[in-house]
Amino acid sequence: MSERTDGIIIAIDGPSGAGKSTVARLLAERLGYIQIDTGAMYRASALLISSSGIDPGDADALESFCKELDIHFENRQGQTLVIANGNDVTGLIRTPEISRLTSQTSALKPVRDALLLSQRRMGGRGGVVLEGRDIGTVVFPDAELKFFLSASAEERGRRRFEELTLKGEPVTLQDTIAEVVKRDLQDSERDIAPLKQAEDAVMVDSSSLTIEEVLDIMENFFREKIMSKGKKI
Ligand code: DC
Repeated sequence: MSERTDGIIIAIDGPSGAGKSTVARLLAERLGYIQIDTGAMYRASALLISSSGIDPGDADALESFCKELDIHFENRQGQTLVIANGNDVTGLIRTPEISRLTSQTSALKPVRDALLLSQRRMGGRGGVVLEGRDIGTVVFPDAELKFFLSASAEERGRRRFEELTLKGEPVTLQDTIAEVVKRDLQDSERDIAPLKQAEDAVMVDSSSLTIEEVLDIMENFFREKIMSKGKKI
């Protein structure tokens, strides 16, 4: 792995709909850090598995498939694109169908092993905000700053519902809340790298906070951490 930069590793974990993606992007912008959305990587791998037609239950086939997985981010004209095995899949990975599929494929060991390696390679130099489910517990257990961002299931379902409705997806609020709860249960109960708060993570409940308030809380913790380490911001 190449040399560490002066920047630290910031992990933001938590259940779906807690606002991790927005907060991670804006926090990275405030700090001049790189954002790595690991959920997008799991979504892209689910899409590839489903379009390749391989049987996720066939361990050998899945393993060889995952060894060839190449999922990374590219910035084009100010937009971050998700590139999966050479193709731009950014616009295809946020549907309810891919959300359901991802909750299943992200529990599979070959998938997690492959993405764990890429995430460590991408984030290992520091100066990054990584968001996901297992960043502070598995991917970077030594991350200098860890947050667990959560919110009530109703609030998270409502936010997801608004997001999907804006995109024209035909969903109901009740179904979206039920879907969010079901996915969290699957993510928390799986054997490998389940969703859970790291012991040293700061819990932030975003139920009744604005995005700016969440960002201010995180930035304050960041500044304290940097001062205590005597690092440059
Ligand atoms: O954050 P998201 O909704 O885009 O995540 C999509 C799915 O990927 C979700 O079911 C949890 C899974 N995931 C994971 O298992 N580990 C991560 N580090 C990030 C996401």
